[in-house]
Amino acid sequence: MKKRFTTFLLILTLTVTAQAQSGKKVFETYCWGCHHQTAVAFGPPFSEIASKRTAEEIGGMITDPASVSKLFGYKRNAMPAFKLTPEELKAITAYILSFKENK
Ligand code: HEC
Repeated sequence: MKKRFTTFLLILTLTVTAQAQSGKKVFETYCWGCHHQTAVAFGPPFSEIASKRTAEEIGGMITDPASVSKLFGYKRNAMPAFKLTPEELKAITAYILSFKENK
């Protein structure tokens, strides 16, 4: 029983790590030109986004920035829409949220 639980934890850890890594890849492929992890670039840093948005809001912004940026209070939308696979979307959202500052 204990061994099965350990195996379960191991698999869980590996899955989470793999997701964080593919999230980093999505970030480097699509987002890096305008967003940095903790520094302000053209767009806000992931650490700031993670502190004020939910996973749903982040997903919405990536797939439909024109509408969602209005809801967020931006006057103009400067971010292009991205067609990511559900896996990529999940991975990049988890990656962004991993920068949430512990306050
Ligand atoms: C061409 C530059 C550009 C690229 C590329 C880009 N963004 Fe953005 N992003 C912006 C700008 C500028 C904003 C500020 C809102 C606006 O202008 O619509 C923004 C806003 C956001 C927000 C909402 C910020 C808030 O207030 O919470 C999220 C989430 C976000 N971007 C995620 C991403 C992700 C994930 C990617 C990669 C898949 C990405 N962005 C790629 C420019 C970009």
